[in-house]
Amino acid sequence: MTEVDLDHHRSGDAVTAELRADVVAGLTAAQKWLPPKWFYDADGSELFEKITQLPEYYPTRSEREVLAAHAGDVAKLTEAHTLVELGSGSSEKTRLLLDALTGHGTLEAFVPLDVSESALAEAAEAISKDYPGLAVRGVVGDFTQHLGLIPGGRPRVVAFLGGTIGNFLPAERAAFLHSVREVLDEGEWLLLGTDLVKDVRILERAYDDAAGVTAEFDKNVLRVLNARLGANFDLDEFEHVAHWDAGNEWIEMRLRARRELTVEIPGADLTVTFAAGEHIRTEISAKFRPSGVEAELAAAGFALEHWWTDSQQRFGVSLAKSVRG
Ligand code: AVJ
Repeated sequence: MTEVDLDHHRSGDAVTAELRADVVAGLTAAQKWLPPKWFYDADGSELFEKITQLPEYYPTRSEREVLAAHAGDVAKLTEAHTLVELGSGSSEKTRLLLDALTGHGTLEAFVPLDVSESALAEAAEAISKDYPGLAVRGVVGDFTQHLGLIPGGRPRVVAFLGGTIGNFLPAERAAFLHSVREVLDEGEWLLLGTDLVKDVRILERAYDDAAGVTAEFDKNVLRVLNARLGANFDLDEFEHVAHWDAGNEWIEMRLRARRELTVEIPGADLTVTFAAGEHIRTEISAKFRPSGVEAELAAAGFALEHWWTDSQQRFGVSLAKSVRG
């Protein structure tokens, strides 16, 4: 097995402290919520991989179609020496980019960054084995916190794929784009995947599949709280809901208490009560319009240079260049 460098920016204790703080903030709020990043322990990352293969979950396939068609353009346009992938997960779609960029002859380094050490380690190993000569430097961290630490020769392309930017609230999205712009030099690149607004039925099915994999994924956050904070959530007492919020143009995933409940979370010194039917918001997944993406990029100091979609116009990929110093 190949050895791959993994830089750790979070110790286990620091992660637990952060989880505790998020749980206290989210579960004592009038409208309960939890940040979606806590889905992704080893089980959650595996469940997410399963989701990407579901017939209802089109974003992965649609984005792959775009990347298959345009990875060559990305290589030609950017001549990247470093590919940085944020929230890389299994890095499977990344291979399309790596093939094009190594084929073009400019690429020297691949830097995947992910909160899930298990997903990252596996992906980094596999890629380093399959791309001899490529320096692979995995970073275990939170891309909202550890962007400043990204190594690699210039120019760099930062890829943020899968529509994960849609999991941020609008203000977080703006802050995130600004922080990416801040670590890049003028002329470096952002490759951004955004899921697009479409028929509600297609959207709701993508987040509430017939086989119940997304429901399992959603409930996995409760397993994480049980494991890391000694909580006693009974997963059967919660129902997974995918709700389209038409005003905000986002899918909201919720876990709804089937009856009145009291849950103990000793690791956060917390007792949480639920009224029957009360829910925890576990994720938003915003859907975009092309004009909105361009405007948000511009506000952060990126000029949209290319916009590509799949044949059904379900998913958009933007290539944007850093402007202004
Ligand atoms: C690919 C991480 C952005 O919002 O579609 C999939 C996560 N949540 N099913 C998304 C997810 C429920 C996903 N991201």
